[in-house]
Amino acid sequence: MMNVTEALNARYSTRAFLPNPVEKGKLTAILEAAVRTPSWGNTQPWEVFVATGDTLAKIRKGYQEKYANKATAAPETPRPTEWSEAAKKRMQQLHPDMARDCGDAVEQFGLLNQTMFHAPAVLYICMDKILSEWSLYDIGAYSQSLMLAAIEQGLSTIPAITLVLYPDVLRRELKIPDSLKITIGIAIGYADKENKINNFTSGRNSLSETVRFLD
Ligand SMILES: Cc1cc2nc3c(=O)[nH]c(=O)nc-3n(C[C@H](O)[C@H](O)[C@H](O)COP(=O)(O)O)c2cc1C
Repeated sequence: MMNVTEALNARYSTRAFLPNPVEKGKLTAILEAAVRTPSWGNTQPWEVFVATGDTLAKIRKGYQEKYANKATAAPETPRPTEWSEAAKKRMQQLHPDMARDCGDAVEQFGLLNQTMFHAPAVLYICMDKILSEWSLYDIGAYSQSLMLAAIEQGLSTIPAITLVLYPDVLRRELKIPDSLKITIGIAIGYADKENKINNFTSGRNSLSETVRFLD
């Protein structure tokens, strides 16, 4: 059995999945495990819509139409307009690092994002619009719980803003009420290990850059 540190190290953003469907029992086990996530006042703000099969196919089709029409993306958690210098520096390293690890496969990055990484299932995580950014904090913690629980089931994941670029398509196909904000999508499935895009190991800063110990 894998320990927590091993699971943390095993998780990575998987950008190409096999078409094999994810067993419902595994999805349920992951969702059951993730409910142990802490949240402000135990509010448990997450509301999850699991898209697979025909429903996911309809979302994919809806997204393809949006891309074909060059539709404006309108995620409900907007892209930031500003980043700190430290964040910018790390972000700029992402693509060169990917090219180093994946070679030519890096060219598939955009298309894999647009095709939802060929994932057989996507978890769309929502929360009531009335809630604050503290609940968004809870959603982030919940997302990591889901992704670690997936590792235990032999499954891979990626959280991606590109999965939630067109909320109108998601609301239509998943019947998500207007009262809910669609925060993030997490694609889940079996990693396509043949695709070199999955060779990417993203770098991490040393603790000295991000942690201050004060005696
Ligand atoms: C909120 C959020 C949104 C993300 N959106 C995307 C995305 O749209 N496309 C993508 O390829 N990766 C996306 N990622 C994955 C990050 O690029 C990835 O987590 C980061 O580079 C660290 O790599 P790792 O997850 O493999 O450890 C996203 C991650 C998070 C947490």
